Order: sequence, then structure tokens, then C-alpha cells
Amino acid sequence: MSKVVLVANWKNYPSSIEEVRVLMSDLVRKRDLYKKVSLFIASPYTYLDLVSTKARGLAQLASQDISNLSKGSHTGEITPEILKAFGVKLAIIGHSERRSLGETSEVIKEKIKIALKSGITPLICFGERERDTDGEHFEILREELKTLLSQLSKNEVKKVALAYEPLWAIGKSAKDSIDEVELTQTVVFVRKALSDLFGRSVAESVPILYGGSVEPDNVYKLVKNSGIKGFLVGHASLKAKSFEEITRAILER
Ligand code: PGA
Repeated sequence: MSKVVLVANWKNYPSSIEEVRVLMSDLVRKRDLYKKVSLFIASPYTYLDLVSTKARGLAQLASQDISNLSKGSHTGEITPEILKAFGVKLAIIGHSERRSLGETSEVIKEKIKIALKSGITPLICFGERERDTDGEHFEILREELKTLLSQLSKNEVKKVALAYEPLWAIGKSAKDSIDEVELTQTVVFVRKALSDLFGRSVAESVPILYGGSVEPDNVYKLVKNSGIKGFLVGHASLKAKSFEEITRAILER
């Protein structure tokens, strides 16, 4: 069985370099455990250097975003070349917290293209704002996937990863998160939508991760039979103990 992917999305935390040192030391201490998953750490940019030094042999680096600009002078931008220089292998793109700051689908599409061109795997976030009993949210997901992906060739789609992040489940707690039945149904639906767009073999090759209040209490159920390839973990990735428990639960599957 291939390794489960775990992306630690630190968002704009921790607020001091000392806390990063402590968190990284805790992770390094459990190196043997984390080597059993495919771990990515998406720290704030300012900590990339420290994280990359400490994460050697433990985790790969991810970014929480990518610029939609590459060539030229762009004050304030972190361009893909810089990310690559630090060894960033994966970029979270289109996170709902960025969309809420005004990021549009057009910009997200540009970012996906730039990541692919730079050899950085785009981890494309999508998800409904709310669920309804009629299943209308499925149509929203289909439209979203179509909008973001139909610009890509089949070969390009094979190089992306998807993060299903329903907005209503982000930043809450395990009890408010999605349940395993809903997650399984959604994964089946997403594969079908991808298959309609790009054919079955492409649809089956795209890794689908889940994010939204993944905690030690719900991760085992969410990974067990859902068809999910891994998780994007926000608040629980900032606490060494929770993150360790999440990883142990995944390995029990
Ligand atoms: P959360 O964040 O685990 O705190 O819900 C997940 C995310 O926003 O990627």
C-alpha cells in the first residue's frame, strides 16, 4: 500500500522562530514514525530555511501558495524560482482562506499553470461552502473542478493533486467535520466528475486529499475506506502531540 500523504498547513503560525524550533525538534524526534507517511510541511515563507534544514530526511517542503508571476521584477512576490531554490515540491493553491481575500478562479488557474511549468506539484483546493440535503453541493463541486481543470491537458492533470476542503468544516473540531460516509460519497463523486472530464485512467491517477478539522479523533474513520490519499492538516499540525496521534491513527488503517 502506498504511503498516505500528510500536508501540515501551518497557515500564519507559529508566531516565533523559537516555537518553530521546538515544533521541528518534536517532529525530528519521531522521525521513524513520520517516515512511514509522505510528509510535507507548508510553513510560512519566513521559516522555510529553518524548516528545510531540520526536515532533511523527515519531510518535504510545501508552500501555502504560489505566485502567478514568474519573470520580471515583482516587489513583495515570492516567485516559483525562489520556492524551488528552497526545495519546495508542492504548492497549496486556491485555499479558501486565500479566496476569501479576493483570489479568483482566474488567478488560481494561472497559479496551477505556473506550478506545473516550474515542476512544483499543485495541490488544488476545492470544496463547497455548505452542504444541503438535496445533494446540490455535488453540482457545485463538479462546476468548480471543471472551471479549474478544463484548461489542462490530460498529461497535466496527471501531475496535480486535489485537496477537498469543504469550507464549513475548516478550522472547527473533529465533531463538526465531515463524517466518513459523506467523505466516501464525495470521493466517488469527484472521481466520476474527473472521469467525465478526462477519462477513467486519468481520474484514477489523481490523488485526492481531504482537509477540514482533521484531528486524532476522526482521522482513522476518515482514512479507513474512503479512498482518500491523505490529509491537509491545519490547526492540529501545530501541536506535536496531536500530529503524532494523527499519524499513528493513519498507520493503523
Ligand atoms: P484545519 O485547516 O485543519 O484547521 O481545519 C485545514 C486547512 O485549512 O487546510
